[in-house]
Amino acid sequence: MIKIRIPATSANIGPGFDSIGLAVNLYNYVTMEEHDGLIIESMDGVEVPTDETNLIYSTAKHLYELCGVTFRGLKIGQINQIPFARGLGSSSACIIGGLKGANRLMGNPVPDAELVNIAARIEGHPDNTAPALMGGLVTSVFAGSRVYYVKQEIKNDLKFVALIPDFELKTSEARAVLPDAIPRADGVFNLSRAALMSVSLYSGNYQNLRVAAEDRIHQPYRLKLIQGGAEAMEACYNRGAYAAFISGAGPTIMAIVSTEIPDFSENIAKSLVELGLDGWRVHTMEIDNVGTIIELA
Ligand code: HSE
Repeated sequence: MIKIRIPATSANIGPGFDSIGLAVNLYNYVTMEEHDGLIIESMDGVEVPTDETNLIYSTAKHLYELCGVTFRGLKIGQINQIPFARGLGSSSACIIGGLKGANRLMGNPVPDAELVNIAARIEGHPDNTAPALMGGLVTSVFAGSRVYYVKQEIKNDLKFVALIPDFELKTSEARAVLPDAIPRADGVFNLSRAALMSVSLYSGNYQNLRVAAEDRIHQPYRLKLIQGGAEAMEACYNRGAYAAFISGAGPTIMAIVSTEIPDFSENIAKSLVELGLDGWRVHTMEIDNVGTIIELA
């Protein structure tokens, strides 16, 4: 049996829609072994699909088929600390868990450089799957069927504080509200900020992050689906965050904060209560520069 640890991810980071993401130290764990037939167990009481629609199972099976290796079936155990449908990369964690696990059980025939492509083809974009696999900050272009990317390790002088609402938002719903076309000015607005976000985060020019996190192609539309989201973002800035943005497709709001503001999380929790967002949860994290690892083999 093997045990895989996969990090949560925060995609887009404001303007980098479908292209920039980073990994944080909140984890899902998957145990996996070959088995005649299918057994899927939740090891922490979180309800998961236990049939062939399970994303870890279907992804693992897909990789066996791609490699031309006979697939007997799998026994899978899941610990899901990454909440579902909150913009923290829970489905990408399943995809990466399935791919890394299946690859290991087959004797690692596929290098990570190819797993990143396979994962993006399954998910449709690489901004969660690539950092879930490799950790750190990953800037990617998905061109055709291949991901061109740079992974950067981020210094440990930042906290990533997730404000997690008490409601889900499905990615399909959050993508359906986006316009098909954008004005040229909005394109320029976003591409300049996406480039600035990527280089400022890895180079430590954190004073740029507030401007770099601005976005005109998804957040204005998605904030209408996230009751209290705009107010929560504003509160992050009032409490001293470098940046605040919708994590992935939402509804989580992510703040990037200096470690030199030790009481940020406590204070933002108070702000949420003042805003009437009592059901929201504050979860404080660090960058994960490692990505997915096999803990037990
Ligand atoms: N880039 C994706 C989106 C992330 O914003 O829709 C969620 O899968």
